[in-house]
Amino acid sequence: MTVDEIFTRTSVRSFDPRQVPEEDVELMLKAAMHAPSAMNQQCWEFFVVDDPGVLSELSSAAPYAEPVGRAPLAIVLAADEGRMKAPLMWQQDLAASAQNILLAAKSRGIGTVWIGIAPHEDRMAKVSSTMRLPDRIKPFCLIAVGYPSEEPVPKVGRYKPERVHRNRHVATD
Ligand SMILES: Cc1cc2nc3c(=O)[nH]c(=O)nc-3n(C[C@H](O)[C@H](O)[C@H](O)COP(=O)(O)O)c2cc1C
Repeated sequence: MTVDEIFTRTSVRSFDPRQVPEEDVELMLKAAMHAPSAMNQQCWEFFVVDDPGVLSELSSAAPYAEPVGRAPLAIVLAADEGRMKAPLMWQQDLAASAQNILLAAKSRGIGTVWIGIAPHEDRMAKVSSTMRLPDRIKPFCLIAVGYPSEEPVPKVGRYKPERVHRNRHVATD
């Protein structure tokens, strides 16, 4: 993987039916678990879902979760409260691991889209119920995974030098 994946990744919301090779799923999970975490707490848990019934239920867990119902696979990212050493930081840890999954997938030509779940309590409750999570396991996000059925166009023009500041904030008004 190179920095190219950062600049060419785009969200993918339509997938072809090809299965994602197990070794690539493992690569994504390894990348996820190599993310930084507060106090190195590594409180994450990953649920790999390929059961069409479960994917279909997850696709109605949030207002814009439909891509999960069109994907051959999804990964549910969650955190185990029992492993938390810095409990206020768990969502930041999980976000770092989610981004690692997106980039590892891209490096293998596999598309993904991140579906936000936490901190919306209604979405968390739906995912917990579908996944039969015990109370201590908190769902963070879903990632739909599969080969893109269309060629995503990399985004350009996101770098805005005016958003970069040197040293202190300078008031302009
Ligand atoms: C926290 C978070 C929540 C998101 N939730 C959704 C979602 O529910 N449904 C969806 O289709 N995309 C979701 N996305 C993907 C964004 O819509 C997407 O990243 C953004 O439009 C930029 O496009 P790009 O990923 O192609 O660069 C989410 C992304 C993030 C980081």
